[in-house]
Amino acid sequence: MTVIPVSLADRSYDVAIEAGGLARAGAHLARFMPRGRVAIVTDSHVADAHLGTLAAAFGDAGIAAEPIVLPPGEATKSWAQLETLTDRLIALGVERSDHVVALGGGVIGDLVGFACAVLKRGCGFVQIPTTLLAQVDSSVGGKTAINARAGKNLIGAFHQPSYVLIDPDTLDTLPPRQLAAGYAEVAKYGLIDDPAFFAWCEANGARLIAGDPEARAHAIAISVASKARIVAEDERETRGRRALLNLGHTFGHALEAETGFSDRLFHGEGVACGMALAFRFSAAQGLCPIADAERVTRHLAAVGLPTTLAAAGIAGADGATLVAHMLHDKKMAGGRLPFLLARGIGETFVATDVDLGAVAAFLDAER
Ligand code: NAD
Ligand code: GLY
Repeated sequence: MTVIPVSLADRSYDVAIEAGGLARAGAHLARFMPRGRVAIVTDSHVADAHLGTLAAAFGDAGIAAEPIVLPPGEATKSWAQLETLTDRLIALGVERSDHVVALGGGVIGDLVGFACAVLKRGCGFVQIPTTLLAQVDSSVGGKTAINARAGKNLIGAFHQPSYVLIDPDTLDTLPPRQLAAGYAEVAKYGLIDDPAFFAWCEANGARLIAGDPEARAHAIAISVASKARIVAEDERETRGRRALLNLGHTFGHALEAETGFSDRLFHGEGVACGMALAFRFSAAQGLCPIADAERVTRHLAAVGLPTTLAAAGIAGADGATLVAHMLHDKKMAGGRLPFLLARGIGETFVATDVDLGAVAAFLDAER
């Protein structure tokens, strides 16, 4: 078992990574459930695959599980499901000192985290992430949200979990396309500030996606350690450091918006294409060696991720349309849109003076 601390003063917590850990959840989590009962929130896909194991693990520890099973998919991050969930938690008698369990991908983690941020002005929760994206990114760091009619993640709060239990074996049931999409967030940590890890990804990424347990555990541990370090430096994304985690997200957000935030392009696929575009744009601006941009594109394409507008399913939209999508991004500050650009692999930085006309022209040339 690997334990990675997230150091945030009185909001500090551990992330435990243990193959087979789901069946030992009682040992990990019993101290958060002194009343001998726990609400487990999940979606129906994850319930079919893993709820039985988790409920049995709590049973072994003398903790009665109260499952709440929601529909799968991004649409679950909604006011309607937030209301359903908070009504159920209130009916179960959840108190401020209780901990709710979020068992699932980023959708369940974000929704449950937000529900727990507001329920009775804040109760505890623990994350048991079951997608690669959630294990390496969304379960750590306390960003919680639902979507608004006007855009994704516009209603939310910072609310840290009290513990994160990652069982990499839960990924065995994840559809391969979802696994590859989550891998984009793994490669992201190498591209941000860890060129040695990106080189490791180039050598081992395909093995990881094929399900190699050793490669999987290594990548999750490095990714979580990287995220924990960045979050500890800048919990609320006010010091420019946490913003680096948005590499690929501004371009990716435009692609996701153009494809209707649907299964046509998963979030991780949008991030993969967005990272390739960010590196190629950086190269086109003379900021980054072309060879580095080509290396990024080559690796992401080699593991089956989209790296071009065509591969991301963007057929008709021109550069101006895609830039217009970017302007709805919640990262807009003072009328300016910060872009994550690169001076090379492992040398990402925030640029606040990017000419949007140049971005549109670049995207037109990419079409
Ligand atoms: P998801 O939660 O929708 O899960 C993807 C699909 O896989 C769903 O159909 C789900 O039911 C299924 N699934 C999950 N685990 C499974 C398993 N082990 N076996 C079989 N099926 C399984 O999607 P995601 O990619 O995990 O998360 C995307 C969400 O995360 C987006 O809403 C995004 O905004 C959010 N996000 C949040 C943060 C953050 O810091 N809070 C960071 C990145 C992304
Ligand atoms: N996934 C971006 C962040 O946690 O800040």
